[in-house]
Amino acid sequence: MAGKRDQWGSRLGIIMAVAGSAIGLGNFLRFPAKAAANGGGAFMIPYLISLFLLGIPLMWIEWTLGRYGGGFEHGTAPGIFHSVWKKNRFIKYFGIIGIFGPMVILSYYCYIESWTLAYSFFALTGTTTTITDQATMQSFLRGFQGLENNRFFHGGGPAYVFFLITFVINIWVIYYGIKGGIERLCKWAMPLLFICGFILMLRVLSLGTPDPSKPGWNITNGLGFLWNPDFSALKSAKVWLEAAGQIFFTLSVGIGVILTYASYLSKGDDVVLSGLTAAGTNELAEVILGGCIVIPAAFVFFGPTEIEAVSRSGVFNLGFVTMPLVLNSLPLSVFFGFVWFFLLFLAGVTSSISLSQPAVAFLEDEFNIGRKKAVLIFAAVIFILCQPAVFFLKNGVVDELDFWGGTFFLVLFATIETLLFAWVFGMEKAWDEIHKGADMRVPRVYKFIIKYITPLFLFCILGMWLWQEWRPIIFMKNVAAANKPFILATRAGLLAIFAVLAVSVKVSWSRKNKQAERIR
Ligand code: PFF
Repeated sequence: MAGKRDQWGSRLGIIMAVAGSAIGLGNFLRFPAKAAANGGGAFMIPYLISLFLLGIPLMWIEWTLGRYGGGFEHGTAPGIFHSVWKKNRFIKYFGIIGIFGPMVILSYYCYIESWTLAYSFFALTGTTTTITDQATMQSFLRGFQGLENNRFFHGGGPAYVFFLITFVINIWVIYYGIKGGIERLCKWAMPLLFICGFILMLRVLSLGTPDPSKPGWNITNGLGFLWNPDFSALKSAKVWLEAAGQIFFTLSVGIGVILTYASYLSKGDDVVLSGLTAAGTNELAEVILGGCIVIPAAFVFFGPTEIEAVSRSGVFNLGFVTMPLVLNSLPLSVFFGFVWFFLLFLAGVTSSISLSQPAVAFLEDEFNIGRKKAVLIFAAVIFILCQPAVFFLKNGVVDELDFWGGTFFLVLFATIETLLFAWVFGMEKAWDEIHKGADMRVPRVYKFIIKYITPLFLFCILGMWLWQEWRPIIFMKNVAAANKPFILATRAGLLAIFAVLAVSVKVSWSRKNKQAERIR
């Protein structure tokens, strides 16, 4: 080993770090957009069911498996899966998704995060706060993203500068390691994020009815848009898929990140209460803060039909077009605009560092590379991998990466993890392992849920997907002809990354086997 493995400094530290990973752009941009695009109240029932049957069980599974693997000095899925199922030669290769997935998400997440930093700056300097109509705000965004040249921007230069700044901040944090970098950042960023969120929530909830001719466009109806249940939607497969997908994405489960964070726990550290606290904090931020800011604010100003239309037109439009317009119409628009985008930046950075850690941990644990060197190697590789998202956004590359990294592999990896935990490790042993050092007992019903319901639910989702979507996706039915080469190249790139990781796993294991033989 290249020195002893890193460790968390305190229990509060790891809870903040996991909550930091979970609370991200997904809570404040993706959640409102998904909820609104799926009819508000119609979305919340499958969402809450998925939380209890998928999200929370997977949180416990990942915390437990991560701590278990850490005991064998493995911080990533190949090693952790191998520790659980030593007799199987192939299981470690399935674990590659736990390094690959976070890298894929990071390759576009970091770029979007950099927009929030840029918009914080634009709000502070008053650049965006004078814009008052939708079309102008939209063209500001498109110009910034390099999608068109207009009076605001010519080329994507400013966006690239903010991307570089964001990238360096991320690398800088992980360079200082688990305790000195990640934990230290999350301990002040998370409280600050909540303060920003509360300020905005209170401001939005105290909005009156800006348009007296539309008395129905008020806060109560805005909240009702999200919370009035609509049971008819339970019949729609698409709503279920979107809701389950959102639960995975928002909790950061099903992709290997929590495994890595939990691998830095010690054997006797509680995972039951800590896991639940982190998940609960995320839900508070998503449903209470996320749900009380964008949707009610947009409802009051634009009404229900417009919200659905805007959110269907693109995930980022509610956050980067509608929200700043709402805030611009209020007194102190510079302040509120800044608070909104800075909240997003804090949420983004505490998530993106968690996406970096699995690959770094893989280099450290499986190749005995010291942390600083591992971070520098990782930085060089991921910098290159981020470029397609930056330069080919207009060709649909980000959506493609989000589909594989942020949706498909999440569900696949979650299924593998659950089966491994409940059926290979075995539910009895798993139940004992969860409760080692635990501060509370998991309700007994979860023994049944984890063993039967969670895997069944995951199979249904996966099956439904394959049934409905594999053809159009594989044959790029919904991709414009001009974009097809870009999508194909993205897929080829993804395959190449996966292959490189597979070879690395092979090399690392055969090296270790040789070493073990020599010792014998
Ligand atoms: N949970 C983050 C969000 O809501 O934005 C995104 C994310 C981070 C997904 C880490 C997956 C992950 F492993």
